[in-house]
Amino acid sequence: MVTALFDRAPAWTRFHVYGRWRLFPFPALLPYAPTTGVAVDLGCGHGLLPFLLATERPALRVFGSDPDEKKIALAQDIARQSHIHNVAFSCRSAQDTEIPECDWLSLVDMLYLVPYDDQRRLLERAVSRLRRGGRLLIKEVSERPAWKAAWTRAQELIAVRVLHLSQGHSFYFRREAEWLSLLSSLGLRPHAVPLDAGYLHPHVLFIGEKTS
Ligand SMILES: C[S@@+](CC[C@H](N)C(=O)[O-])C[C@H]1O[C@@H](n2cnc3c(N)ncnc32)[C@H](O)[C@@H]1O
Repeated sequence: MVTALFDRAPAWTRFHVYGRWRLFPFPALLPYAPTTGVAVDLGCGHGLLPFLLATERPALRVFGSDPDEKKIALAQDIARQSHIHNVAFSCRSAQDTEIPECDWLSLVDMLYLVPYDDQRRLLERAVSRLRRGGRLLIKEVSERPAWKAAWTRAQELIAVRVLHLSQGHSFYFRREAEWLSLLSSLGLRPHAVPLDAGYLHPHVLFIGEKTS
């Protein structure tokens, strides 16, 4: 279990990481992951998804980045101490991350912290680094059902502005249809996968396939 990698982290970090793991079904992303090649996760936080990809896909090379120095320093220590050699982390915002040519590029619950114009520029750059047949995965929250969306926004206000669990201050949510049309406009073949069954948050995964 990926969370066990954090068992020697400080109590508050363990609480945060275990909570995050319970609140979102990270393993639901695995069926979309390649077995070889390169995967990039921007805004990776403590690195839960990069660690999951690296351990479940040992022949994949995985890169994670996040602007939070403490999260990245911990992820780097854990990778080193746990001898997970196919993962690397860097402390950078997504906008400043040099993206290698890749087969998978994920942004999980971080684009809502990036201003709209930057979102588009970042995604254009991401698509230009994706190999043909590669996938762009954006995990955000849907506007439906309304009660789950309202709960999520209230919780984000507390998480970001009060507890400072994530860097950022304002929110830049989009509706499902907007994400799909943005992915189409970038030349990808998009579809949405709802992942909220059994969860309090209206999780939705947008997948854009690069077919040409
Ligand atoms: C809700 S957390 C999600 C972390 C991780 N993706 C996960 O699913 O556990 C949001 C993350 O976005 C990061 N973040 C905020 N602004 C960012 C930016 N401009 N570029 C990259 N990451 C950013 C925060 O530091 C935080 O770790």
